[in-house]
Amino acid sequence: MSQERLQKILSQAGIASRRASEQLMLDGRVTVNGTTMRELGTKADPGRDDIRVDGRRVKLPERHRYILLNKPPGYVTTRSDPHKRPTVIDLIAGVHDYVYPVGRLDFDTAGLLILTNDGELAARLTHPRHGIARVYEARVLGVPDTHDIARLAKGILIEGRRTQPANVNVLHARSDDALLEITVREGRNRQVRHMCEAIGHPVSSLRRVAIGPIRDPKLPLGRWRELGDAEVARLQTAAAKTTSPNFELGTQKETRQRAAAVPATTGTAAGSHQPTGLPKKQRSPSRTQTSRGPRSGASRTMKLAAVEPHARDPRKKKRKF
Ligand code: URA
Repeated sequence: MSQERLQKILSQAGIASRRASEQLMLDGRVTVNGTTMRELGTKADPGRDDIRVDGRRVKLPERHRYILLNKPPGYVTTRSDPHKRPTVIDLIAGVHDYVYPVGRLDFDTAGLLILTNDGELAARLTHPRHGIARVYEARVLGVPDTHDIARLAKGILIEGRRTQPANVNVLHARSDDALLEITVREGRNRQVRHMCEAIGHPVSSLRRVAIGPIRDPKLPLGRWRELGDAEVARLQTAAAKTTSPNFELGTQKETRQRAAAVPATTGTAAGSHQPTGLPKKQRSPSRTQTSRGPRSGASRTMKLAAVEPHARDPRKKKRKF
C-alpha cells in the first residue's frame, strides 16, 4: 500500500472525519511506529506502519460496507446511547463491521439512513460544500399557502442563520393538514422541523425518502439492505461535486446569490435550484403544487410556473383560499 496523509488514513479507517483526525494529531494522540505525529502533512503507509490513536492500532477496513436502513421513529442515530435508548445499530443485527451512521435523523424521524465504514464517503456526504440533496416528506399541521411555501423555499432565518434555498412541493392537502416534500442540501439540527415551525405549520411526522440519488420506497420500515455497486458509484459521483466554491464561507451573501439566481416565474414555488443529485423523476419542472386541500372533493392544484413565488397572498388574511 502507498503512503497517504495520516488524516486521510484515519478518516478512511472510520476513526473520525479528516478535520477531527487533524485535531487528534494536533492533540498528540496519534503515533506512527511509536513516534507521536503532530505535523499535519505527515504521511504513512497503513499496510506497513504501526499507526495508533490513543495507543490503539488503526486498521483500514478490509472492505467497505454501505448499508441502507429504513429507520423507524423511536431509534437514536448513534452507535451507542448513554441513555440506553434503542439505536439504529440495534436494527442492523448481523452486520459485524464497525459501520456508523452518515448524518443524523432525529429520534422521531423515520426514513432512509446510510451506515458505512467508508470514512471518506461519509465525510463528503455530510459536508455542506457537496450539497447532497436530502428529500423529506413532512406531514404538517394546517395547510401552508403559497406565501408560506415560498418562504420555506427561499430560506428561513433559524437561530440567526438563513437556511439555504429548498425545493418544496405540496403532495397532498386536506382540510387540517398537508404533506410537503422538502428537499434540503444542508443538515442543520432539526432543520425541517424548525423550518415548518417557522411558517406556523409544525411537523406532525417526518420521513426521509431520498439521500442524493438513493431512494427505496420498497424497503420496509425497520429493515436494511446493502447498497449495490451502481448505487455506491452514483453516491460517489454526487459526493464528488461541489455546489459552490464559496460554500465554506457559509455566508448569507451566498444564500442571497443563490436565491437571486432563481427565475421568478419558472420551476417550483421554491423557484429555487433543482437538485442535481436526484433521480430524473424528481427533477421534472412540471410538478404541480397544491396550495390548499380540496374544499369539496376536487383537488385544488396550481402550476407553480403561474405563481409569483414571493408575492404575498392577498387572500391570506381574510381566509385561506
Ligand atoms: N430535519 C429534521 O427536522 N429532522 C430530521 O431528522 C432530519 C431533518
